[in-house]
Amino acid sequence: MGILEVKDVNKRFGGLQALGDVNLSVAENSVHAIIGPNGAGKSTLLNCLVGKLIPDTGSVMFAGQSVLGRKPYQINQMGISRVFQTPEIFGDLTVFENMMIPLFAKRDGAFRLHAFEGVAAERDLTEEARRMLDEVDMLDKGDAHAGSLSRGDKRRLEMAMCLIQRPRLLLLDEPTAGMARADTNNTIALLRTIKEKRDITMCIIEHDMHVVFSLADRITVLAQGTPLVEDTPENIKGHPKVKEAYLGEAA
Ligand SMILES: Nc1ncnc2c1ncn2[C@@H]1O[C@H](COP(=O)(O)OP(=O)(O)OP(=O)(O)O)[C@@H](O)[C@H]1O
Ligand SMILES: [Mg+2]
Repeated sequence: MGILEVKDVNKRFGGLQALGDVNLSVAENSVHAIIGPNGAGKSTLLNCLVGKLIPDTGSVMFAGQSVLGRKPYQINQMGISRVFQTPEIFGDLTVFENMMIPLFAKRDGAFRLHAFEGVAAERDLTEEARRMLDEVDMLDKGDAHAGSLSRGDKRRLEMAMCLIQRPRLLLLDEPTAGMARADTNNTIALLRTIKEKRDITMCIIEHDMHVVFSLADRITVLAQGTPLVEDTPENIKGHPKVKEAYLGEAA
């Protein structure tokens, strides 16, 4: 049994079957990559894992508990965090202020602390934010406006905003999209460090095969909403079904 178990998930948007009978099992403390051409359903699948979308049928279990029917902040509390395809940061706030955002959620009509509930004083949170920014090598940028950061730093900030929630499962939707090669390599190094330092499972969607093959323990290839093949990076390289998915024809 994996820490994340997706069973027979289907999701339609009107007449479009975005996900069709998706099954996925992600082993604890592994890096599982999901690859596939544009429109394959990768982001839709991640949205179903974090409560942003509700599958029409099927189940999504994390650490033995269903995530379906829970609100996004409850899913965060279960230990699932997500880096979005487009960084969801607040450009007019400082880096430090952004770090506080994921710790609060609207509940009972007011914004309340939902991570470290009952444990942390405000100063502890500030200290925690400093630690996380240090971990992503951005401590010196705490007072900068998030909107003024480079694309790579915005991604790093978003990563730190996830890590401050102490996730057991980190979902990353194209963490290197639009990055220059140097930033991409920095991101690979950062994710490797995070993996080594923490008990963490990662599910990563990526188009950049260099990133995928550098990080993944296992890879699922998604095409037209359905997993085509799941295997190790060695076996996925040159796999005829992977070529078929990307080129639209049998290799
Ligand atoms: N909210 C929505 N309403 C209608 N159709 C949608 C919606 N979200 C996604 N789709 C469609 O579902 C399919 C899967 O989209 P999805 O964004 O999951 O693909 P993806 O694999 O993440 O693609 P990309 O690599 O371009 O990010 C696409 O055909 C897309 O147009
Ligand atoms: Mg996508």
